[in-house]
Amino acid sequence: MKDASPQTIYLKDYTPFGFTVESVDLTFRLAPHATRVLSKIRFAPNPVASDRTFFLHGEELTLISARIDGTEVTPEVTDKGLTCAVPEGAFTWEAEVEIDPANNTALEGLYMSSGMYCTQCEAEGFRKITFYPDRPDVMSVFTVRIEGDVPVMLSNGNKQGQGEGWAEWHDPWPKPAYLFALVAGDLVNHPDRFITKSGREVELNIWVRKGDLHKCAFGMEALKKSMTWDEEVYGREYDLDIFNIVAVDDFNMGAMENKGLNIFNSSAVLASPETATDMNFERIEAIIAHEYFHNWTGNRITCRDWFQLCLKEGLTVFRDAQFTSDVRSAPVKRIGDVMDLRARQFPEDNGPLSHPVRPESFQEINNFYTATVYEKGAEVIGMLKRLVGDEAYYKAVDLYFERHDGDAATIEDWLKVFEETTGRDLSQFKRWYSQSGTPRLTVEEAWDEGGGTYTLTFRQETRPTPGQAEKLPQVIPIAVGLLGPNGDEVRPTEVLEMTEAEQSFRFEGLAARPAPSILRDFSAPVILDRSLTSAENAFLLAHDTDPFNRWEAGRNLARATLLDMVEGDAQPDADYLDGITAVLRDRALDPALRAQMLALPSQSEIAQQLHDRGQTPDPEAIYAAHEALKLRMAEHLQDLLPVLYAENQVDAPYSPDAEQAGNRELAMAVLGLLSRIDGGAQAARQYDSADNMTLQLSALSGLLIAGKGEAQLQAFHDQWQDDRLVMDKWFGLQVAHAAPAQAAEVAQRLTEHPAFTLTNPNRFRAVMGALGMNHAGFHHASGKGYALMADKLIALDAKNPQTTARMCALFQTWRRYDAAHQAHAKAALERIAATPDLSRDTTEMVTRMLAV
Ligand code: PHE
Ligand code: ZN
Repeated sequence: MKDASPQTIYLKDYTPFGFTVESVDLTFRLAPHATRVLSKIRFAPNPVASDRTFFLHGEELTLISARIDGTEVTPEVTDKGLTCAVPEGAFTWEAEVEIDPANNTALEGLYMSSGMYCTQCEAEGFRKITFYPDRPDVMSVFTVRIEGDVPVMLSNGNKQGQGEGWAEWHDPWPKPAYLFALVAGDLVNHPDRFITKSGREVELNIWVRKGDLHKCAFGMEALKKSMTWDEEVYGREYDLDIFNIVAVDDFNMGAMENKGLNIFNSSAVLASPETATDMNFERIEAIIAHEYFHNWTGNRITCRDWFQLCLKEGLTVFRDAQFTSDVRSAPVKRIGDVMDLRARQFPEDNGPLSHPVRPESFQEINNFYTATVYEKGAEVIGMLKRLVGDEAYYKAVDLYFERHDGDAATIEDWLKVFEETTGRDLSQFKRWYSQSGTPRLTVEEAWDEGGGTYTLTFRQETRPTPGQAEKLPQVIPIAVGLLGPNGDEVRPTEVLEMTEAEQSFRFEGLAARPAPSILRDFSAPVILDRSLTSAENAFLLAHDTDPFNRWEAGRNLARATLLDMVEGDAQPDADYLDGITAVLRDRALDPALRAQMLALPSQSEIAQQLHDRGQTPDPEAIYAAHEALKLRMAEHLQDLLPVLYAENQVDAPYSPDAEQAGNRELAMAVLGLLSRIDGGAQAARQYDSADNMTLQLSALSGLLIAGKGEAQLQAFHDQWQDDRLVMDKWFGLQVAHAAPAQAAEVAQRLTEHPAFTLTNPNRFRAVMGALGMNHAGFHHASGKGYALMADKLIALDAKNPQTTARMCALFQTWRRYDAAHQAHAKAALERIAATPDLSRDTTEMVTRMLAV
């Protein structure tokens, strides 16, 4: 039975649970359609709670029997859980329930994927396994017995024993139920070991299906690197005898940090040179690090309630970004992260789904695993570190670990350790957690020739967002450096701390009017609204010592030229073409950075830009300008392209390291341009000789750019039809490269392919996610992109609400476009909203997007 009116949960209503849980004993008798779960839970009255209502969450469970202290009881059961009269003091609760993992297509709770049993409990999946106070502030020690006719049976913690048809696990660390995990199946392992800095020997395993054993080595190396890094940088050691990672084909998200038993989407862990691209390898390394780092930021210290999600996610994203910067290139990572922030978080923060880093209410928590909580949450930590300095940062974090180990903590706890160690008042800084929307920063310059004084005056403004009309000034760390007229740096980077709505900063004793480099390293997640002439941007592109701002200057030029071309068929700006040519020729510059400089702002970013200026973006005009600019760039660079392509070929055996990957990335970007002027000849040659997926896929992409590749697409399909992850690329690429008028048909046709399925989120995202990312295809004037998306989301919602709701966000920018587009989008959203039995997840998302 579904809820007629979904309930809203508020942060301000938090109250502790009436009972503490001393221990949890679970027995699983596995059977695909009728798994029995026996629970034995020791409860005691919680001294800090006043409400003693004994309510246990439970959804989609068949209660077989329940006992309190050995005596059978008959609780009152609803579709949300149960209540029951309980003794005054401590007592033992026992229950037996039956569940149906084989029919669990939502992929929350216990489900089956390619014949194996696995679980996903964050955020509220444990209540689909047994009756329990399923909230993160209830922590306990779990002992788990698994029985079944399955060769490998895993759970959290250390293995206590095993025999024919059973295994027992015990996790000594108290944890909330969302970190519970169980896996059982016919799995094989890639084993290794790690000695921690205090000498503890840890057994490491990556568990996979039989055919995937050759795809584990890279993930294992990434795990060991992460373990070492967390010891060296944060002083954090691993705390169990064993660390298991399992690869699962059907998974809603990237991966999950269950204590001692991380469960990964196979796309986030499995890789071989033949099947995975350099980008896949880099992402895998980052996700393995992320999940591993959660062992301290998330598991040892967890969240009091789900409003505090950024406490673990923002911090852990920040930590994994630090790790990637250390083991790869810091500027390349930073630029990549900012591109991602602008592509995913800015639209969220400036549209109907805008919410604070710490939301104050929700209907379905699954809808708040967002770019704002994760990526803006990480930016907030980065600002804090920049403001207090590295030394104070690590001192505060040490105190956080010391004081809150074993706690379910809050953002207040987190900020307090910084206040105590630095003596700073962070009450204004805290607005970053409560105020939604992206602050816009404008700047005015004043130069006093006589005194040699240069003044920067900043103004900040945040536009109203849903539920927040009034905005207060935020603390913005603005990293600034000054360049002299000849391009030399006359003032090194300094962090200006802006706290007022309008504020001036003076630089004295300058010999000549400087050129400022503002918001270096993207020191705050704001929109810097500063119109520079193309000569000024070209100057920074040539001279800025800050790699991020150097890239940004090129980006500004590209953006300006694209906007001109959208508006008036203009020719590309000569400063842009010349500046990029110089950058590409600069052999001292990291090839990966050069590749990033060559990339254009996305069509969606241009649309956002136009919308910000009060104009109505026309997706097809933006598409045309994008195509025209790429063609003009290819023509302009036609002599240089073959040289760069040749220079960046890698002769050594394949390695996914940053250096090789950087060469390939630049060669790939070059091939994309070349393919516009050589009829796909180079791409065809590359396709034939490719011996790794990075080369094979970029060649196929080059062929599609050139309007060729029919035969290669078929060959690729035949070669890889048995590899799900590679086939996802095959599906996605075709939609990504479809022309605007054809994108919906291409996606539609691919959903009819026998290998398309609604039960595998990766496959659904490969096709429909790619349609959503094909800007002019999804936002096509005919409305057919919207209509197809609505059809497929409606079909998916019946099986998998969580993934449906996440994908719904593709509509979040619908009000940017003209009335005809809006009418089509609105009709699609209303059709989704009107679907009988629509999930709470999707209902909330669609309602927010339709609200005025
Ligand atoms: N906690 C996971 C992570 O960020 C994400 C996740 C959320 C996975 C919900 C599954 C379900 O690492
Ligand atoms: Zn996380």
